Amino acid sequence: MKTNKETNLSGKSKVGIKQTKSLVFATAIAASIVLGVGAATSEIVLRHTITGEVLDLSHSPEEGRDTPAVKKFLETGLNPYLEVKACLPKGEEAFLVACSGCHGHYAEGKVGVGLNDSYWTYPKNKTDKGLFETIYGGAQGMMGPHGSHLEIDEILLLMAWIRHLYTGDVSEADWLTADQKKAFTPFDPKASEHSGNKGAEEKAKAETSACTVSPS
Ligand code: HEC
Repeated sequence: MKTNKETNLSGKSKVGIKQTKSLVFATAIAASIVLGVGAATSEIVLRHTITGEVLDLSHSPEEGRDTPAVKKFLETGLNPYLEVKACLPKGEEAFLVACSGCHGHYAEGKVGVGLNDSYWTYPKNKTDKGLFETIYGGAQGMMGPHGSHLEIDEILLLMAWIRHLYTGDVSEADWLTADQKKAFTPFDPKASEHSGNKGAEEKAKAETSACTVSPS
């Protein structure tokens, strides 16, 4: 250990002035990128579902703006939580608080339309980017904007839960890759109700602690 450290240290001291300068420069660029994401700027252009106006992500709560999942989403437009089963309980919780009153416990539809079948009023909701835009900025009537009271990270979590609740034809699930389509099993409310015992709750708790998206 000790020898290793010494080698590293002496290695560092050999860095010439030129290299030090470029290192400082690179660090400054890296820092500005990090700061940019912290302010919730985005590589993808997010637009309001009805008006087409560019969505202002600075309206979102400061908390939850620069998690690894949010960073990846703002780079690619894809929701990393679709791949992390351990995060589903968190998504369920957020959905039950903010959405199920209008869209139903299993997104089967109530005052608000069903979100668990292959029919979409706005076809873009078949993509993660489109679904995020509709939730963040709202649509018509009672579907108001949710971007100022839900954290961006939370929106991504509940989006993964909505996709999990899907009961429609897998071939129409455009948000899934070919491999994800093969692995997908449509949601079964009965099976979910039966597992509502203590053992399942404990399991869900343990799984929640494994809810992470690795920084790329
Ligand atoms: C106050 C009731 C209400 C709440 C709360 C609500 N919605 Fe809606 N939602 C609606 C209504 C009504 C519509 C239909 C609006 C339209 O067609 O423009 C809708 C439409 C949608 C659509 C478009 C569906 C499609 O077919 O294209 C999505 C997606 C959606 N809601 C997701 C959510 C999510 C996620 C939440 C929770 C963060 C939520 N909604 C909260 C009432 C609500």
